[in-house]
Amino acid sequence: MQAQQVFDKLWNEYISQNPAAKRVYDLFTREGEHVVNDHIAFRTFDDPRVNIDVMAKEFERVGYSYQNSYNFEQKKLNARHYELPEFPDAPRVFISELRLKEFSPFLQETINNILEAIPSGLAGQGELIYTGNIWGTPSYEIYETLRKESEYAAWVYVYGFRANHFTVSINGLKKYNTIHKVNQFLKDNGFIINSSGGEVKGTPEELLEQSSIMAGILPVKFKEGTFEIPSCYYEFAMRYPDNDGKLYSGFIAKSADKIFESTDFYKK
Ligand code: NI
Repeated sequence: MQAQQVFDKLWNEYISQNPAAKRVYDLFTREGEHVVNDHIAFRTFDDPRVNIDVMAKEFERVGYSYQNSYNFEQKKLNARHYELPEFPDAPRVFISELRLKEFSPFLQETINNILEAIPSGLAGQGELIYTGNIWGTPSYEIYETLRKESEYAAWVYVYGFRANHFTVSINGLKKYNTIHKVNQFLKDNGFIINSSGGEVKGTPEELLEQSSIMAGILPVKFKEGTFEIPSCYYEFAMRYPDNDGKLYSGFIAKSADKIFESTDFYKK
């Protein structure tokens, strides 16, 4: 399927930028597990040049369709999720966008400046999901200032458009068939679990349990020099059947709200 090519491209980029993600994948594979992705997530801004509509184009081109919308009040984000109906095992696509008007003039102006720097042939185009940072070397001072208002904005300012995380489907694992077993396995192998709101977000009653490792800390070249900051992370999701016996396929905003914090700045 065409969608496979899209995901292979995104996956190769993701693991080349995030050695920790590759390590997680290899750990499970070495245990004889077949790693299936539950979803893949993107971050952007609600500006018409790069908003969710734009980031969804490439996925719609290969057959994905809109499923549901979400609102993150505190983080000032909108999100939507997409699925590929004819291939139930294809990862869901989760795209969020920051509501710029709800932030300071400094943040709005900074983001507008980087969006102005997008080559005109690319603004509004679906290929943006592959481009990463196309506005040049970031400033550490600006990164630090953005972080005070929104870790999310600071992350996109540095990394641009790329897969923010992939998510292992625990339903697809054999030996590590509960979220607790998965978390313990990760901790035994030296990974830090995002503990904001507890290590496990959601409950079987809510039909979705999620956890994630904190993003790896990697050296990034800034105008002022090289600094170590959080990159991308890996998430884990276990879905439960609803009353009709059908596996729940949506997302839970209050859980995802805490998962977003996996890229918050922290000291190694
Ligand atoms: Ni996620």
